[in-house]
Amino acid sequence: METILVNYEGHVATITINRPKALNALSTQVLTELNEALTEVENNKEVYALIITGAGEKSFVAGADIAEMKDKNVEEAAVYGKFGNEVFRRIETFRCPVIAAVNGFALGGGCELAMSCDIRLASENAVFGQPEVGLGITPGFGGTQRLARTVGVGIAKEMIYTARNIKAPRAAEIGLVNRVVALEELMPTAMKMANGIAANAPIAVANAKKAINNGLQTDIESGVAIEVEEFSNCFATEDQTYGMTCFLDKVKEKSFSNK
Ligand code: CAA
Repeated sequence: METILVNYEGHVATITINRPKALNALSTQVLTELNEALTEVENNKEVYALIITGAGEKSFVAGADIAEMKDKNVEEAAVYGKFGNEVFRRIETFRCPVIAAVNGFALGGGCELAMSCDIRLASENAVFGQPEVGLGITPGFGGTQRLARTVGVGIAKEMIYTARNIKAPRAAEIGLVNRVVALEELMPTAMKMANGIAANAPIAVANAKKAINNGLQTDIESGVAIEVEEFSNCFATEDQTYGMTCFLDKVKEKSFSNK
């Protein structure tokens, strides 16, 4: 892969969008290789948490590739939008938690990529925004859907209609990011969080992700029914017996088997 790097450390995988000359903009090649990288990580059963970040110190992802989009017709734009949305939906429903380590510009498709992740950490220099209407288009990789779900409809509409960017502290204030840290602390913080997630029972974490994601798309009655199903499914796992036995036996150092 030319535009994506995949790295493994313990139970944590890191995918780096590696096209710094174009501030990691999402060309079809980048999206295609990101999709391949997701398949690779998905198939590695030792991975319990995934981090997505951008190469360089300036940009996470500066959006979809404007040069590539400029001459598209309606049909070609639909193919591009559908593909970007498919890849981002894969991230949203990925079998383990995904942390976005936002190391700079997260504009348009970059903000949308971050929002498809479970958790967003940002460096102090990070900038978020949906500048699309200033280019004559709407957000096209999930921004019209996930921004309102993440920060509420009023702020989402303000950001999308004005196309004005916001800095990291404001992103934290509106709940778009979980935490802001110094740039040099970003990857260590993401790693620490990913390792903390990976130390818990992987099937329970995955079931919790499914219950939260699926429950959010439905009414409370259906949501709690989803929760009962995911909760009870945990009782078919060895890790449930092991985790509870450790507690009762006062064992502090646990090592879950993912079974
Ligand atoms: N697509 C293609 N190329 C891009 C790009 C993008 N989204 N963003 C940056 N680049 C390229 C620039 O064209 C430039 O290339 P050259 O060196 O060949 O000229 C290179 O990256 C460096 O960029 P700048 O010189 O512009 O860097 P800067 O520091 O002056 O500005 C920036 C940084 C403010 C992020 C600016 O690059 C910018 O505004 N980028 C576009 C942001 C944007 O509008 N994103 C939304 C795209 S639309 C979208 O994403 C649709 C969707 O939802 C699917």
